[in-house]
Amino acid sequence: MLKGKKIILGITGSIAAYKAAYIIRGLIKKGAEVQVVITPAGKEFITPLTLSTLSSKPVISEFFSNRDGSWNSHVDLGLWADAMLIAPATAATIGKMANGIADNMLITTYLSCKAPVFVAPAMDLDMYAHPSTQQNLDRLRAFGNRIIEPAEGELASHLVGKGRMEEPDQIIRTLEDFFSCEQSLFKKKVLITAGPTYEKIDPVRFIGNYSSGKMGFALANACAQRGADVTLITGPVSLETPHSQIKRIDVESADEMYAVTTQLFPESDVAILSAAVADFRPASRSEQKIKREKEDHLTLSLVPNKDIAAALGRTKHERQFLVGFALETNDALLHAKEKLQRKNLDMIVLNSLEEQGAGFKYDTNKISILDREGNQTDYPLKDKQEVANDIIHKITERFI
Ligand code: CTP
Repeated sequence: MLKGKKIILGITGSIAAYKAAYIIRGLIKKGAEVQVVITPAGKEFITPLTLSTLSSKPVISEFFSNRDGSWNSHVDLGLWADAMLIAPATAATIGKMANGIADNMLITTYLSCKAPVFVAPAMDLDMYAHPSTQQNLDRLRAFGNRIIEPAEGELASHLVGKGRMEEPDQIIRTLEDFFSCEQSLFKKKVLITAGPTYEKIDPVRFIGNYSSGKMGFALANACAQRGADVTLITGPVSLETPHSQIKRIDVESADEMYAVTTQLFPESDVAILSAAVADFRPASRSEQKIKREKEDHLTLSLVPNKDIAAALGRTKHERQFLVGFALETNDALLHAKEKLQRKNLDMIVLNSLEEQGAGFKYDTNKISILDREGNQTDYPLKDKQEVANDIIHKITERFI
């Protein structure tokens, strides 16, 4: 996957700079071409001679060569690359990248680079956890840069925590994964709803459902792998965010999910509504816990929640693509087709509870995809991540 790929490796002033030698070796072994750009502080930790020997190219550090005055064009370099990897990336470099402080060759190259950028932070645990560093990393994510999260472990300070640069093998694997997946959704804005919603009855009870969120999270992962800017709006689930390029917004009730989703939809290219939104909520919520002794009979009065999919369907313009889900226990096809029309969806994914191994509780799912033109594609039972890949493939085929 890395064969023939042109990679700029940015090295900054961290003790982890010695690992850059292994990164170069690994990339070259896989057939990539590597151009090292190193900051002045980086040279304190590893010599340019080591790096140029391993990469078979002169190392770039200054804007021009002191020897003959020749100019190192960061613009040409930025255009040359298929990817830029900054490993290790110190807190200072991350701060400069986030704020456009172009005072060295590495940052000017970063600002000129049109290719995808990968950043592997390396620093002490408290520096990494500091809100300033975290905000800068969030800014880089918002620019579309991919952050290769540091690992937990012993640090140069002998403290133990998160901040150690990810291992070279893993960094190279991240690049390989990136190049192995077609970037069919590169820079597309994708909105995904996932999980159940909880509708409060009193401070300790709610109406909910069995949705695990796994399908929506797998979809978010599949989109992020294809280069999309993903916003994942999720009800209460116990799942880790699967990809660093995903912006996650946690909500609880259908009302909250409605507010966030309708606010973000106008900016989105694609919306995939996989959440199992509660259709009803209690008409009133008790401020205190409902006590058993006071009630010998309890009737809950419910009122309907707003339909998020239908609301998006009403405002959708022709350059947007709206995908819904249908989970049915009977007359599945009929109901799915009716929902496609009623909610003005472009595509609906039908999963039937009649199928063994499909639905809420399983890691597998069996789906059919229906579109507005009346096409139907049936898929066999598969792992949810593979199902997500099938769905995204269909979306890109129809929309992009
Ligand atoms: N949906 C939504 N907002 C709601 C209810 C549903 O966005 N308040 C979305 C779901 O995320 C899904 C699609 O609409 O993509 C279909 O959901 P489903 O619950 O099957 O449809 P309902 O309209 O609620 O119909 P019913 O429950 O009567 O089958």
